[in-house]
Amino acid sequence: MSALKRHIVESTLVPHTAFSTATMRIEQCMRYSLDSPEPVCLALIGESRTGKSRALEAFYHNHPPKRDEDGVKAPILMVKTPSKPTVKGLVEIMLRALGDPQSYSGTENAKTMRLKLLMRSAKTSMVIIDEFQHFYDKGTHKVMHYVADWLKILVDDTKCALVVAGLPTCKAVLDQNEQLAGRFFAPIVLPRFDWGDIDQREEFVGILGAFHKSISSHFDIPPLDSNEMAFRCYCATGGLIGYLSKLLRHAVWEALDTNKKIITIEDLKIAYEASIWRDEQILSNFDPFSRNFIQAQPNEVLAKVAQIGFPKINLNHSDISRPTNLNPRGIKSLRG
Ligand SMILES: Nc1ncnc2c1ncn2[C@@H]1O[C@H](COP(=O)(O)OP(=O)(O)OP(=O)(O)O)[C@@H](O)[C@H]1O
Ligand SMILES: [Mg+2]
Repeated sequence: MSALKRHIVESTLVPHTAFSTATMRIEQCMRYSLDSPEPVCLALIGESRTGKSRALEAFYHNHPPKRDEDGVKAPILMVKTPSKPTVKGLVEIMLRALGDPQSYSGTENAKTMRLKLLMRSAKTSMVIIDEFQHFYDKGTHKVMHYVADWLKILVDDTKCALVVAGLPTCKAVLDQNEQLAGRFFAPIVLPRFDWGDIDQREEFVGILGAFHKSISSHFDIPPLDSNEMAFRCYCATGGLIGYLSKLLRHAVWEALDTNKKIITIEDLKIAYEASIWRDEQILSNFDPFSRNFIQAQPNEVLAKVAQIGFPKINLNHSDISRPTNLNPRGIKSLRG
């Protein structure tokens, strides 16, 4: 029971609109690939903590590997790109994911041959590659063309669908590789929710409602989706679902460790201070859970919180991971 309570936040999956669209499009991609004469490829793009890996895991969970009389069938081969990808490194990870006990042995060609054979016998129909931005070296601004070409040939030869997920920088890999780009559908974007956009704000409030429902089955907690609390939570997390889940997870752990059944706004304040990484220069003395958190200048506050989760910007470099617009788009009026 206590383990269940401890994991109440991480075991809550919120199928918000962008998440459902992403999983539905990946599902579609898998179906299309069965009839398509050429590989069907899709990119899932979003800032850090927008839920890309969670969407991939949820999809993978619906198509798990199974054992039948001919051995293991793995419809999906899902891996994370190593931080400095090479063909050798990637093929080894893929072999391991398909259960090859000798993933390290053999030349690059021999391993690739073995991988193709394993994929055929496991009836793999989709390759999913997370952390795809590692195919682009931010330091040198170079794309790992050799690995990208190897990947293109792998999906061509195996006729598998390909799904890649990563930070916005991963677009450079496709922009600079016309052969890969030509195989891709338009990307799916998992957003950071924007309070200034009424639909996205409602989406964020809906997510708060879903977390509130789960948490309140074990704890007494203020209604997170009320106008006031929703704005506080937004300011604490910059509209990133990953930051929100971390904040709430921390509040739940703290309540369990101190044997409390009530999570108050003060507890959320403690959780915010302990769990959210923020730029002290931009958000100094910023406390969205203080009793007197009044938004005299809401647009200014929103412009600041829109930077939560972004790396510090080096103004001498044009870094394509940087937000295209530092102010949140179209901040209008706050909800009543
Ligand atoms: N739809 C969702 N419902 C509930 N929790 C979610 C959802 N999406 C993401 N989360 C939670 O938010 C956190 C961050 O999600 P995730 O790791 O998928 O982000 P990411 O986009 O892959 O980030 P990164 O680019 O840093 O790897 C995780 O704890 C995850 O469980
Ligand atoms: Mg991830």
